[in-house]
Amino acid sequence: MRKKLQRFYDNAQSRNVIEPDKPIYKAIKGKWRSLQFKNQHPIVVELACGKGAYTVQLAALFPDKNLIGVDIKGARIWVGSRYATANKLENVAFLRTNIEQVDQFFEENEVDELWITFPDPRPRKRDEKRRLTSPLFLNLYRSILRPGGIVHLKTDNAMLFAYTIETLHAQNIKQLVYTEDLYQSNLLENHYGIQTPYEKRFLEQGKKIKYLCFVPSWKAALVSSS
Ligand SMILES: C[S@@+](CC[C@H](N)C(=O)[O-])C[C@H]1O[C@@H](n2cnc3c(N)ncnc32)[C@H](O)[C@@H]1O
Repeated sequence: MRKKLQRFYDNAQSRNVIEPDKPIYKAIKGKWRSLQFKNQHPIVVELACGKGAYTVQLAALFPDKNLIGVDIKGARIWVGSRYATANKLENVAFLRTNIEQVDQFFEENEVDELWITFPDPRPRKRDEKRRLTSPLFLNLYRSILRPGGIVHLKTDNAMLFAYTIETLHAQNIKQLVYTEDLYQSNLLENHYGIQTPYEKRFLEQGKKIKYLCFVPSWKAALVSSS
């Protein structure tokens, strides 16, 4: 408990953590570039970021992009926040909120790209709406992504992966590529070699990592899947 409280204290002092009780929390919508990053670079968001592996590693690979990790758990965000501070990654921020409310923090067209990394699969039928690729969430992503903005999903979970593809087909989304075995796929380069803590655990258990990316706009053009 003491460790958690220390992490919450650190988050409260960290400029790269945007969370309730900070004035910027209510002011940031539509102003990430001017208030937080002080540049006009593209914005890439990692949803369900946990310790923020994609957030910090993409930030190091792409200094000309702004990376934002979103998660509800402050003690996990703390790991990414500390890493970014220690490595002087000025293009990193973490937002502590429920993903259900993400449209309260980003303006229309403000986000260039989204990553959803190993989200909770929510296998029970009654939790279908809570899956991060349900139609409800897809509409949220549409409301903040620029036209043509890409969404990436990585998961070990066959049910969630099949559900997502089915949902995207039902929405007539044609700009979709996917693989059920990322490490045997020509899409491998899409993940930049970044492995999250959950991914490492799943790989140790011998599970296959599934990956897909798509453009959620309604008028997407046809692209082949592999
Ligand atoms: C299975 S973990 C994956 C963490 C990280 N992406 C990884 O791969 O190591 C799922 C994460 O999603 C977060 N999460 C789940 N539902 C959420 C929601 N509705 N809003 C915000 N965060 C959520 C949890 O707090 C947790 O950190």
